[in-house]
Amino acid sequence: MGATDTLREDHRQIRRLQAVISRCHAALSAGRDIPLDDMDRIPRIIGGFVDSVHYSREEDSYFPCVAGYGGLNEDIRRLLIEHEFSRRIAAKIEGHLAAWRAGRDSREPVARYMRTYCIYLEDHMGKEEAFFDRAEAESLSPEEERQMYEQFRTSVADSRMDEMVREVEYLEGREWCKT
Ligand SMILES: [Fe+2]
Ligand SMILES: [Fe+2]
Repeated sequence: MGATDTLREDHRQIRRLQAVISRCHAALSAGRDIPLDDMDRIPRIIGGFVDSVHYSREEDSYFPCVAGYGGLNEDIRRLLIEHEFSRRIAAKIEGHLAAWRAGRDSREPVARYMRTYCIYLEDHMGKEEAFFDRAEAESLSPEEERQMYEQFRTSVADSRMDEMVREVEYLEGREWCKT
């Protein structure tokens, strides 16, 4: 396994989170109640894994390495802009959940930003996977794949991945998520 496969595997797990967020949005829009404690887990998972582990693998290692070859710089620029968009949406979800907890009915904005986040994930990961295919085929050497793979395998990253999987499994098992 190399660095590109690690990122693909991250995406597989993030797609599970995406499915949970989609369920959450659908339930809220249908007027069903979801415990705030459950919903609060979503921005926590985004912050704890999607942003701090997965984006940092892409932004701090993978993109700069691919950029060294020159051919995919425009794609990288767009993917980075999308990461910023994603951070803003996640902050909106978190902010509206906090307002909801403080007593303001925030069902509508929470549902809306969750839907936006799902659409973002679908679009971004699809584009990025096409980018991974090209980077793997046209740019990265086996040695670079191996070196970045080693770099990605830190104990902090591994434990955050485990934590995300546990959290996603918990949410998948909740009643609102199953129906
Ligand atoms: Fe990305
Ligand atoms: Fe990604």
